[in-house]
Amino acid sequence: MHIRDALEADLKGIREIYNEAVENSTAIWNDTSVDLENRKAWFAERRANGFPVLVATDDNDSVLGYATYGPWRPHDGFRHTVEHSVYVREGQRGSGIGRALMETLIDLARQDGKHVMVGAIESANRGSIHLHQQLGFLHVGQLREVGTKFGRWLDLTFMQLNLEPRA
Ligand SMILES: CC(C)(COP(=O)(O)OP(=O)(O)OC[C@H]1O[C@@H](n2cnc3c(N)ncnc32)[C@H](O)[C@@H]1OP(=O)(O)O)[C@@H](O)C(=O)NCCC(=O)NCCS
Repeated sequence: MHIRDALEADLKGIREIYNEAVENSTAIWNDTSVDLENRKAWFAERRANGFPVLVATDDNDSVLGYATYGPWRPHDGFRHTVEHSVYVREGQRGSGIGRALMETLIDLARQDGKHVMVGAIESANRGSIHLHQQLGFLHVGQLREVGTKFGRWLDLTFMQLNLEPRA
């Protein structure tokens, strides 16, 4: 497994992973699959704003997972905080890919001078919550029934990692 910056050629694989999560999980609170143009626009926007998109690939350069961060909230005062996301292809989970992607992403956020990373995770997503705990994220709150998918209410758990000591 290799981790590197995503290229435009990876967007097909990224789209497949994204759409699988849209269709089958509560990891993404969207109901509609996206086309390649949507991912191209998303990728261009990330790059234009200097935000990383990482992919994990196998020996054939197929995308096994991806991780990225972007702004947490749009106002100026939040500029040192980022919200990230991490997705691993179905069938490849549980073998260390998510952790490896996140460790690299955290290093990049530190190098980029970011202060806090925020993860907003569906509260029943035990795998993701466990992964974030292992990486040192702290559980800092929960919003109840702020989302809905598959006919039920969803709670949102916030976890945060402080990247540098408090000044
Ligand atoms: C959550 C996700 C990114 C984790 O990536 P992964 O490659 O499967 O996780 P890893 O193999 O790196 O495991 C990291 C840790 O999490 C644990 N873990 C992973 N999946 C788990 C699960 N379903 N239940 C419990 N623990 C789990 C592993 O045991 C490991 O802990 P350990 O170090 O104590 O052994 C991945 O499962 C995924 O893409 N899930 C679907 C989409 C999703 O939920 N994304 C996150 C949205 S917030």
